[in-house]
Amino acid sequence: MTFRPIRKAVFPVAGLGTRFLPATKVMPKEMLTLLDRPLIQHAIEEAKDAGIEEFILVISRGKEILVDHFNSAPELEDILQSRGKKDALAKVSESTLDDGTLQTALQTEALGLGHAVWCARSLVGDEPFAVLLPDDVIQNPKGCLSQMVETYNQYGGNVIAVENVPRELVSNYGIIEGENDNGQTIDIRGLVEKPAVETSPSTLAIIGRYILQPEIFGELARKEKGLGGEIQLTDAMARLLKNQKFTGLRFAGTRYDCGNKLGFIAANVAYALQDTDIKDSLRPLVQKLIGS
Ligand code: UTP
Repeated sequence: MTFRPIRKAVFPVAGLGTRFLPATKVMPKEMLTLLDRPLIQHAIEEAKDAGIEEFILVISRGKEILVDHFNSAPELEDILQSRGKKDALAKVSESTLDDGTLQTALQTEALGLGHAVWCARSLVGDEPFAVLLPDDVIQNPKGCLSQMVETYNQYGGNVIAVENVPRELVSNYGIIEGENDNGQTIDIRGLVEKPAVETSPSTLAIIGRYILQPEIFGELARKEKGLGGEIQLTDAMARLLKNQKFTGLRFAGTRYDCGNKLGFIAANVAYALQDTDIKDSLRPLVQKLIGS
């Protein structure tokens, strides 16, 4: 059986990024640099590798720099060209998206992740789509979304990336209740946002990668407020679960939560330790720092 292809991806980047203040007072959190490129570029590249053709950024006012980053920069490119800086030029071109492939939707108020996704409804239209939260970074040779697209091509429906978290941390995540766990995929039977440790149905947490059917917009349109007074994507998925198939995928790779300082620093060290230019110099430096 073939399912409709996943051509579009939504990147909700309209949050306040309070955990990185004052860095994020003016600059969006998604422009923070992981090794040599902003978080948003890592997410766009992962989507591109998975076959995504249209990129939809849900932004808030003042976050236009996230769009500018993917525009061509003719003046800079001319200078690099005339100076023979081929590598630098290639890096600038790599970060430029083809005309007409990047679109934006405005979220005027940070009412929650569910609301941010709903803001992209008319750009997505009536087809299945991906959602990537750029502050969740997954380090793996095959990108997390590519793995999810493979799962989708097998099962159809909705696919959510999940990973086991320590029980004491379940109240930080959306948690799934599942069955038919074959070690890689799980049939999802229930979803709950940030449950209490005592009542959590499992320790399998939803992370920031989703493949969703367009019917999710009907659920989000109800604008029901959930935990923290926010319109939660998890609540809308829980309602859609009554009529649609949801598969959880334990993806291959290491996830870093770059939405907080510890995860962000850990990701930078992990990426730097794999970078051919600096890894050999960094290793002894890190060892020395730990030793002292
Ligand atoms: P977070 O929970 O990390 O919130 O949102 P945040 O505002 O970005 O950061 P903190 O907690 O204040 O430090 C998860 C993702 O959902 C997006 C964020 O941009 C982030 O990518 N989001 C969240 C929106 O786009 N709109 C919202 O109303 C809420």
